[in-house]
Amino acid sequence: MATYISGPVRVTVPATSANLGPGFDAFGLALSMRDTLVAEVADGGLRIEVRGAGADDVPRDESHLVVRSMRAAFAAMGAEPPGLALRCNNVIPHGRGLGSSSAAIVAGVSLARALVAGGQLLLDDEALFQLAADIEGHPDNVAPAFYGGFVISGREGDEWYAVSAGVDPRVSAVVFVPPTPVETKVARGLLPDLVAHADAAANSGRAALLVAALAGRPEHLLVATRDYLHQEQREPAMPESLALMHALRADGVAAVISGAGPTVLAFTGRSAPDLTTRAPQGWACHALDIEPTGVVVGE
Ligand code: HSE
Repeated sequence: MATYISGPVRVTVPATSANLGPGFDAFGLALSMRDTLVAEVADGGLRIEVRGAGADDVPRDESHLVVRSMRAAFAAMGAEPPGLALRCNNVIPHGRGLGSSSAAIVAGVSLARALVAGGQLLLDDEALFQLAADIEGHPDNVAPAFYGGFVISGREGDEWYAVSAGVDPRVSAVVFVPPTPVETKVARGLLPDLVAHADAAANSGRAALLVAALAGRPEHLLVATRDYLHQEQREPAMPESLALMHALRADGVAAVISGAGPTVLAFTGRSAPDLTTRAPQGWACHALDIEPTGVVVGE
């Protein structure tokens, strides 16, 4: 039977941006915006407090995504705590393409492992990442939330893979967050079953170029972030985002739709002009660094 550590455990986990233009369902980047969660094993019951982003919308029961993820990790360790208390301080906007659900999942599995005595021996990092990606169903946000930085991820057979790649220290980002969410399911529903061979070929070339551009050739970011597979196709669900992305790109700024949208992410450098003035009325705008560190437990 599992034993639990006494006292609360705290984790922080970063926001993430998936796709980055041509890296559909494969590329993900951690950003310097973090949710903080604290959990504790209790004598009984389930108590959930949520502050910040999504506080008015998320359930306070077993269906809460952090709790579901904790339960999955406890089960994988053969543990069933008598009760749980969870506090979430959410900063990552919900339903905007900045990885809030992956952050919740990665935080949940990490909290559960940290609460079980010897948890690291029962679930190593690789197993924890596999579990988190299984829960999310795709790894492109989970991987950078877990490992930090820029991660290329996917599935081979029964396993998820995640490979970290370099990011030039000159690269940073501005995110433009619209006031209303778009469900990933809706955004995915707009994608065609088939794409033209020429588009697939062009997209592959841009994705490869983007790896090199991020690693040390940021002058190529504008060309490298051109996508052929999903951004234009999603315009009906997020016309203002596409309009902003096109306006920024016309001015030479490497702007993309963040994940399934509707946030727009623009790559910038430290000496780049202030882009915050480009945010449409009612949108939030954050200048962020690329976050080298993924989930952090116990600090
Ligand atoms: N890559 C996904 C999509 C979103 O664009 O639908 C993040 O997992």
